[in-house]
Amino acid sequence: MDSPLINIMVKAAKKASRGLRRDFNELENLQVMTKGPADFVTASDIRTQNLIYDELLYAKPDWSFVMEESKQIIGSKPNSKFIIDPIDGTTNFMHGNPNFAISIAAEVDGKLEAALIYSPITDEMFLAERGKGAFLNDKRIRVASRKKLSESILITGIPHLGRGDMKLFLKEMEILIPEVAGIRRSGSAALDLAWVACGRYDLFWERGLEAWDIAAGILLIKEAGGYVQGLNGKDNDIWSGNLISGNEDIINNLLKKLEI
Ligand code: IPD
Ligand code: CA
Repeated sequence: MDSPLINIMVKAAKKASRGLRRDFNELENLQVMTKGPADFVTASDIRTQNLIYDELLYAKPDWSFVMEESKQIIGSKPNSKFIIDPIDGTTNFMHGNPNFAISIAAEVDGKLEAALIYSPITDEMFLAERGKGAFLNDKRIRVASRKKLSESILITGIPHLGRGDMKLFLKEMEILIPEVAGIRRSGSAALDLAWVACGRYDLFWERGLEAWDIAAGILLIKEAGGYVQGLNGKDNDIWSGNLISGNEDIINNLLKKLEI
């Protein structure tokens, strides 16, 4: 993976990750602000976003930017954009849990062209480019091929204070828990998708996500031979933030069980 686009994304993420690792080792000094109920932003989110933005803007001064911690920035090329989550898994980060990642996607004319998800603490770099496959630290990755729910590990989000539909979640758990090998919750949707792309989890589903949580992960999954689709009944728009991903059979098996 060494196209000019991927190279600038890698350079930006690697540069920003140095400060993130430093901050992670000094959490007692971390400045935390609240955006809503149990929805936090730290000084590290903002610093990381600014660093990535500066670096990418220098390389692509006419591109647009969609970023978690700011309003959309429209450049002279509105159809070429970076979609950035500086820290996906902010709550983990704040608690000293290393399961968080930088997520950067490049979208041109409505098509995802390149994706990066980087875990600064484990130094795992997930990359994908449209038509060129998906990689973890330079090794080709593929989604798992398990078809049976009884052999599969599922990963999802759990509603919490200020977020999600608890009744629906509990209903789905009641249906799925007796059927599967395990259900996990990691706290970073970007890493969840990356881990589905490399077969560590068999299937991911979650509702209420934002473009920056999922854009890079969507391309990774597709380039790893997997599927991503909407979870909202007939409307198959994954950008609604309600999505499911894995191999085609496991997705269909789960949707059948949930009667979606
Ligand atoms: C969150 C994580 C989490 C998901 C939440 C997201 P953030 O992103 O991806 O796994 O369940 O919906 O908001 O706030 O840590 O960037
Ligand atoms: Ca996020």
